[in-house]
Amino acid sequence: MTAKLAIEGGNKTVDVIGPLPTKIGKDELLEVLDLWQMSDGNAAKIKAIIESEKNLKGPHLFRYYNPRPSKVAAAEKAMTELTGAKYCMATNSCTSALVAAYRSLGIGMGDEVIVPAYTFFATSATVAASNAIPIIVDVDDTLCLDARAVEKAITKRTKAIVPVHMRGAPAQMDAIMDVANKHGIPVVEDVAQAAGGSFKGRMLGSIGTIGCFSFDYYKIIVSGEGGFYTTNNERLYTRALNWHDCAACWRPDRFGPEKENEELFCGENYRMSELEGAVALAQIRKAKDIIAKHRAAKDKIKTAIEKFPGLGFRRLADEAGDTGICLIIFLPDVETTKKVLAALKAEGVPCGGIYDSKVRDWHTYNYWEHILQYKSVSPDKLPWSGVPKNELPKYTKDMCPKALDLLSKAILIDIEYNFSDEDCGKIATAINKVLSVYLK
Ligand SMILES: Cc1ncc(COP(=O)(O)O)c(C=O)c1O
Repeated sequence: MTAKLAIEGGNKTVDVIGPLPTKIGKDELLEVLDLWQMSDGNAAKIKAIIESEKNLKGPHLFRYYNPRPSKVAAAEKAMTELTGAKYCMATNSCTSALVAAYRSLGIGMGDEVIVPAYTFFATSATVAASNAIPIIVDVDDTLCLDARAVEKAITKRTKAIVPVHMRGAPAQMDAIMDVANKHGIPVVEDVAQAAGGSFKGRMLGSIGTIGCFSFDYYKIIVSGEGGFYTTNNERLYTRALNWHDCAACWRPDRFGPEKENEELFCGENYRMSELEGAVALAQIRKAKDIIAKHRAAKDKIKTAIEKFPGLGFRRLADEAGDTGICLIIFLPDVETTKKVLAALKAEGVPCGGIYDSKVRDWHTYNYWEHILQYKSVSPDKLPWSGVPKNELPKYTKDMCPKALDLLSKAILIDIEYNFSDEDCGKIATAINKVLSVYLK
């Protein structure tokens, strides 16, 4: 006789499944711990503790549908507190945050976006990857976008201006915002290199329309890979969320109805994982302290540098808003710069040149051949086919002479937040020693 079906009131055949093994368990935790490089003795003790654990539930590394409070969501909240921006969305990189920024603004084929001649390539590559045309504009002695050059570059196609707060210091945001507001053009701040910096009392990433941050390992606060998108505009935030996760899980129900026009469209997947979220959260909590230490170390070195004829410093648009991650000095000419750089390196000073016409580097526009030569990933020749040929920008390798001139005479001295007073003293002594020979 067949048993009565559960649907007809019979007993349920499968009432409990499990316990199921955790998807991610002890082996993975041990691999993660290995990254921290503990001493052998402590590593062995922790390994023994982990192996003795009987109730390991394992992490839920996906931010959505998470039975526990999401670390990514907590990191987003911490970023709104750090930056003062109303909304924040975590991404897997700043590159993806930039694409989300351009896409949420509706930027696409036939549009132009103004970017500086000096920035990491991602700022402009993402414009082209969004099917829009990067318009490369010169920098001023802040080494960030020159507001006057921006105004000259505006056309009927300009859909965004992207100041990049290079090397930890803010761009001249008052002048840039004046130009943007006068022409009604949104501003996307690229804060990849200046998280925690500010301009005249306002945190970077909350001044323009959108802010994009990088948490890759080489930035100020880091999670290995990662990024954040900040804005005060709810509509842009909603559109960015949609772009960053094509499954649209946030509405709060992923199948919820469209809240407003233009909210739903096909996006990609730029989600941050809970592992990066956890690291980012801990780092954001420490950001103010890290920056205060950077600034203090920079101040010690800078004030100990003597006056030398021909020595200049990068102009800071707002010294109080500088994150202090580096000190940039200018020398009178390229030849002296090369000699001073070699001598500083020989003294053990952590430093580097910024631009050398013979050394490839992704931070200066004249090496962006993909853009200068109108390269495309597909036969449709986008983004360049998006505008009439005679309206394409005429890119040349020397189109931004100020950037090339300033950068070729600049030396960047790295500042670490954990430099001791002694480290700062030694670095300043070495700089004075070298400059007293070359800048007599
Ligand atoms: C100015 C700038 N923008 C964007 C990026 C891209 O950041 P990510 O590596 O997080 O994609 C970087 C990274 O070097 C950068 O320096």
